[in-house]
Amino acid sequence: MDRLLIQGGTPLCGEVSISGAKNSVLPVLAASLMSEEPLLIQNAPHLQDVASTMRLLGSMGATVTLGEDNSLRVDTSGVNRCYASYDIVRTMRASILVLGPLLARYGQAEVSLPGGCAIGTRPIDLHLHGLAAMGAAIDVNNGYIRARAKRLKGTLLALDQITVTGTENLMMAAALADGTTVIENAAREPEVEDLACCLMAMGARIRGAGTSRIEIEGVRELQGATHQVLPDRIEASTYLAAACVTGGKVRVGQVRPDTMEAVLVKLGEYGASVELGEDYVEIDMRDRRPRAADVYTAAYPGFPTDMQAQMTAVSTVAEGTSTITETIFENRFMHIQELVRMGANIEVHGSAAVIQGVEKLSGAPVMATDLRASASLILAGLAAEGESVVDRVYHIDRGYECVEEKFQRLGASIQRLS
Ligand code: EPU
Repeated sequence: MDRLLIQGGTPLCGEVSISGAKNSVLPVLAASLMSEEPLLIQNAPHLQDVASTMRLLGSMGATVTLGEDNSLRVDTSGVNRCYASYDIVRTMRASILVLGPLLARYGQAEVSLPGGCAIGTRPIDLHLHGLAAMGAAIDVNNGYIRARAKRLKGTLLALDQITVTGTENLMMAAALADGTTVIENAAREPEVEDLACCLMAMGARIRGAGTSRIEIEGVRELQGATHQVLPDRIEASTYLAAACVTGGKVRVGQVRPDTMEAVLVKLGEYGASVELGEDYVEIDMRDRRPRAADVYTAAYPGFPTDMQAQMTAVSTVAEGTSTITETIFENRFMHIQELVRMGANIEVHGSAAVIQGVEKLSGAPVMATDLRASASLILAGLAAEGESVVDRVYHIDRGYECVEEKFQRLGASIQRLS
């Protein structure tokens, strides 16, 4: 199992280019199931989760071809099995995103229930209730969801809770349904809007994506299209947090700063000077120690839960006391005990972590438990004095493209041990 060896203590400086968003490319890949014609996806990141989705689509009979310049061409004309096995779904929960597309285009789907997760229980009841309200017959048995519908029917869906992949699944299903669907209390994440752009390029009729009310007028069929994936706001924010925790100066390029506002405001509160361009963000934290600040995670446009673990790492060396409150997932503090092993002073009270900043962390062997926890431990290792080894880095490969190369470009001493 790969590990990362980090020699900490060097302020990160330089520029890094940001890849396409993981949480955008995964639903877009699922959307390829909705048309017989090929979908060309540009700016697709090379990630383990993308490879898993390619394997999933391949297992159903689709052909995915890697093109030049990070493009993927997906041809689903050969799909002959509407089936997502436990074997694949258990490695990646986002596999649930094929449920809506399969049901809408083929009238049937058999998808494994995702099961447990390191960050919380993560049920999918809202996906299933929404599809049932659109007329699907759904049966959950032996660990599998079996869904059928001749043709889904447009309806009003008022979601009890904001759900990102739930909104995406229902929006995809509605795109081929009979009549108009309205999703109230929809997720407003930029990745939902990006998926809607892709679907609209395929011929879907969608209004309001990016707001909490999405209206979808179903069409009979969708066509092939070309779609360019949105830049990854979480990857970009992670490199900015790395500059903040190490006292460096980092510019992230090929980004959409308008999708990163909550994080940029927060980095400012931690004491960073933030400069914005049309497609870049630079933060300067040289010769400064971060100041403590409070973080409260919320659905977009609030502070993203996917940056909570990284800001926890920054808080460990900040001057003063920070309180980090996690409101989206009930178990997303698994990085904290590892940070404590590196000398952090943290107490957890329910959904809040109270962090008394220390002058310096000290390097230690630590274990990653999920994707963003790994990012947090890498940041801590880069800031710490001495050597750290982050184990189970397969988690990081799910969501960060060429992670050690990008950090090395910023001057970090980090190498992969196989
Ligand atoms: N929820 C339910 N029922 C549902 C669906 C969700 O109760 O049917 C609850 C969840 O348990 C959670 C909250 O609603 O408490 C929000 O979960 P959501 O459904 O929005 O999460 P998700 O769609 O499974 C996506 C991202 C996550 C990100 C969350 C929140 C993708 C592929 N995944 O997950 O990304 O943390 O939204 O923003 O888009 C990551 O990239 O590291 C990651 C975990």
